[in-house]
Amino acid sequence: MGQGVLSRYGDYLPLTASTPMITIGEGSTPLVRSRVIERELGVGSIHFKLEGCNPTGSFKDRGMVVAVAKALESGAGAIMCGSTGNTSASASAFGARFGLATYVLAPKGRIAKGKLSQALVHGAKLVSIDGSFDEILRIAQRLTEMYEVAFVNSLNPHRIEGQKTAAFEIVDELGSAPDFLCVPVGNAGNITAYWKGFKEYAALGKAVSTPRMMGFQAAGAAPIVEGKAIENPQTVASAIRIGNPASWNGAVAAERESGGAIDKVTDEEILAAYRAIAEKEGIFGEPASAASVAGLYKMVRDGKDLRNASVVCVITGTGLKDQEIALQSRGTFLEAPPTVAGVEAVLGLSRMRSGT
Ligand code: F0G
Repeated sequence: MGQGVLSRYGDYLPLTASTPMITIGEGSTPLVRSRVIERELGVGSIHFKLEGCNPTGSFKDRGMVVAVAKALESGAGAIMCGSTGNTSASASAFGARFGLATYVLAPKGRIAKGKLSQALVHGAKLVSIDGSFDEILRIAQRLTEMYEVAFVNSLNPHRIEGQKTAAFEIVDELGSAPDFLCVPVGNAGNITAYWKGFKEYAALGKAVSTPRMMGFQAAGAAPIVEGKAIENPQTVASAIRIGNPASWNGAVAAERESGGAIDKVTDEEILAAYRAIAEKEGIFGEPASAASVAGLYKMVRDGKDLRNASVVCVITGTGLKDQEIALQSRGTFLEAPPTVAGVEAVLGLSRMRSGT
């Protein structure tokens, strides 16, 4: 088995003899069992799928590798996306690596600095636009219709194809599909992709069941839950600050067909889950990613009996992308003079010795 999504799961992807087998080392991310939260919540088992371990720090690389391979196959010389940050980081890395001009449209002042840095260091042409993600996505879509530039947002079906491989990995590793999959929902491409992956594996006889798909939007950006587009979405989780998801229908189908739910979690709940996975599990996800765990907490609070259930929470991106939120959400650090005694004093270590 070679490295990367195309090589590992090429049999299930729309590849042809002329698709270049490119990779940046994406996929095959860790599925880590909970040590503390599972016990605290009384859930049968909880695993975290650490998609922040992809090369650009989010799940986007899985879909981008397929979209970029197909763009190269079709002779494209440039790619474009509108993004809340992670898609643009991934597109920029692939664009740099495979010699494609990369155009990134980003909502001004609303994307985490880590993600902005990624697009810039990879040499993308980044346009900051004073508008919402939803407006920007429409502009990117229009421009890519007008020019010979490949559109690499998740409306590009190759993105969904690549992203579905995360579902394959979960089944391959657990030996079966989990009972529940908890995932954050923004533009709704990812929940659509996971559901496609689980269904395909079941149809192929690689799993005897499919999970209930549990999608979580931020309360201030929850168009699917509210049943209407949100004009001015607000949430601390900038990656999912989206008011009119492009794959709305895909999310609703996943919910309905799987017997799952699309629900919302407040920013307070998102930040509490963000701190819980960091402090209790050693997992640093970005705020949007914590929506999946906040959702699981909510399911338990609402009285769902999960004592015998297996649950996978997708941690979609690394917390390192959004250090401002990290620093705001935690207390401050200690300070000391550059002496052993000084550090001993602020840490209270001498008390520890006298106590032993
Ligand atoms: N988590 C993270 C870290 C994301 O970056 C995104 C989406 C999502 C969850 C939601 O996934 O959109 O497929 O429902 N980020 C997109 C972007 C919108 O532009 O990077 P979704």
